[in-house]
Amino acid sequence: MKLSVVGAGNVGSQVALFGALKHIDEIILIDILGDMAKGKALDIQESMPIVDSHSTIIGGSDYGLTKGSDIVVITAGIARKPGMTRDNLINTNSNIMKSIIPEVCSESPNSIIIIVSNPLDAMVHLAYNLSKFPKNRVLGMAGVLDSARFRSFIAQELNVHPKLVKAMVLGGHGDSMVPVMSLCKVNDEPITKLLSMEKINQIIERVKSGGAEVVKLLKTGSAFFAPGASVIEMVESILHDQKKVMPCATMLEGEYGIGGVFAGVPVELGKNGVEKIIEIPLSDEELTAFKTSADHVKELTKNLNL
Ligand code: LAC
Repeated sequence: MKLSVVGAGNVGSQVALFGALKHIDEIILIDILGDMAKGKALDIQESMPIVDSHSTIIGGSDYGLTKGSDIVVITAGIARKPGMTRDNLINTNSNIMKSIIPEVCSESPNSIIIIVSNPLDAMVHLAYNLSKFPKNRVLGMAGVLDSARFRSFIAQELNVHPKLVKAMVLGGHGDSMVPVMSLCKVNDEPITKLLSMEKINQIIERVKSGGAEVVKLLKTGSAFFAPGASVIEMVESILHDQKKVMPCATMLEGEYGIGGVFAGVPVELGKNGVEKIIEIPLSDEELTAFKTSADHVKELTKNLNL
């Protein structure tokens, strides 16, 4: 099993570390700053005896290292600064994507590409167009992260183990994302039985600005621990053909009444990438919010002239 990670910044190096903790055989960390990628790979490698993993981690700037990858995760790009939206990153990060995707495709023509760079849904669409890969092999990480934030906040509020909390965030990975209240359950009990509507709404607002909350505190850069863990949740389901259902950015072609746009929906992740899109019943209000979010992504993606 070979995982390559393009971009050895905070997110990329956490993806490599979480991947090594999950015993992925070979992990390649690529960055234009080749020595920095080498240094981080070496540092992670040196922790393997302690964490009881046999992973090999190699860093560098040469895409030849990524040859024959099963999965390529793209984290390269600039992160937002306090006060910026993810959408503000579109020009810089789309140029970076244009330089990376052809290299990835020529080294690993059968790989599955997972995009993490922002603005997420637009960057996945761009990578899909540039790669010419089938749609099941190009997807984006965001829903797992946004849902993990939702689950954490509820677990903290109720003082329960976060694993007991089920929650799902759909739509674009931006200010219009849709934390779905009707899918939120703790030990199979609907959240509406456990928390007041006022509290639930506060949590929903916090989820929507979850990324910005971290950006504001860090002052330089954006979140990386939870994003790294979220990517590896997806990678594991693909590499081990687990067929877990989790929200990911995928190309919609009529599902939920939406087409021609990438947005976060529950998908089954297996060895072929996105193996199935799951259409869960949503309330009218949730469906409207979801469509608004998808429309926002469509508008933003227009700037890319795809
Ligand atoms: C966040 C970035 C990864 O939500 O978009 O923290």
